[in-house]
Amino acid sequence: MRRHAGIMSHQSIIFTTIIAAGLSMPLQAQTALKDAYKDYFHIGAAINAAYSNGSNAEGAALVKAQFDSITPENDLKWERIHPTPQGFNFEPADRYVEFGERNHMFIVGHCLVWHSQTPRWVFEDDKGQPVAREVLLGRMHDHIAAVVGRYRGRVNGWDVVNEALNEDGTLRKSQWQRIIGDDYIAKAFEYAHEADPKAELYYNEYSLENEPKRKGGVELIRKLLAQGVPVAAVGLQGHYHMDWPEMAQVDATIAAFQALGVKVSITELDMDVLPAVRSGHSADVSAQAEGGANSNPYTAGLPAAQQQALADRYAALFRVFLKHRDAVTRVTFWGVTDRGSWLNNFPARGRTNYPLLFDREGKPKPAFDAVVGAARTAQ
Ligand code: GLA
Repeated sequence: MRRHAGIMSHQSIIFTTIIAAGLSMPLQAQTALKDAYKDYFHIGAAINAAYSNGSNAEGAALVKAQFDSITPENDLKWERIHPTPQGFNFEPADRYVEFGERNHMFIVGHCLVWHSQTPRWVFEDDKGQPVAREVLLGRMHDHIAAVVGRYRGRVNGWDVVNEALNEDGTLRKSQWQRIIGDDYIAKAFEYAHEADPKAELYYNEYSLENEPKRKGGVELIRKLLAQGVPVAAVGLQGHYHMDWPEMAQVDATIAAFQALGVKVSITELDMDVLPAVRSGHSADVSAQAEGGANSNPYTAGLPAAQQQALADRYAALFRVFLKHRDAVTRVTFWGVTDRGSWLNNFPARGRTNYPLLFDREGKPKPAFDAVVGAARTAQ
């Protein structure tokens, strides 16, 4: 179910053209992702500044053609937009929002309160000591008022709190939690709502597909809703692997949050196809690892069998999302092409990964056809 009918895309068909023997002829008419899913949910991509400031024109054209929602990969994170106490850097964020408006997209703000990519000064006084609760609440308030307030009525939804939970479902002892206490989450939502009462507000998290963390997440959202905190949707980041999670876990996770009365979005979808370089499947950004000798097997290209396995897994995943289309409002990929994916450098640096639907040249992969095909056969 789409909630923003006003931004529905017009039908757009891309013609793949070959130029051979002086002839230019349309080879195949290819349905765009956003059109295949227009009756179901938004299809988004995380983009960086090059897409919105004109320097990657080809990439921008691909995003315009295929997606009807955007998320800023980094430009609205605290360290980028508010690097020093008095210093805001709104320029890339302004371009990002303008790009979304120009192309009639559902624009996401990411992210207001997180333990990572937040400057140290936020938590410290001028002697480097942790500030008091009231000081940190004041800084959080002013940051949210400035950032959300600037784009009031223009950014459609905000990831208000990102990654507040540990793998066992307890609250992460982040600086936010240590200094303010457990109510920092409710406060962040309160401030965001005050800054833009019409924006949708989200709680965004990884690995909720695992039962202990999911239980903690359900408990957290239940409590927030009981206090009247306006959580519109839970974001499942969707940093997946070929062997995790099982479809039944995704299915159960969407159902568990829907049962609380919130919507669900898949907010950072990608599929790591490379061998694991550490145990577990966490998207914990602090966990960099060393890649061993066999950890980067596809530098010359993804073999056909793996390409097909990736396509099959994406199709299965989208069938689960489609099954839950009453709950799912948006599926956003974390990046546009394989070339730009963070998974070439995480958890080990310098590998060649293939996690998205478009290859290094921006051409659709078999996984793209599989995702479009899943929509065609939706029951
Ligand atoms: C988390 C964050 C994203 C991004 C990814 C890694 O999932 O929410 O903003 O930093 O890690 O790229």
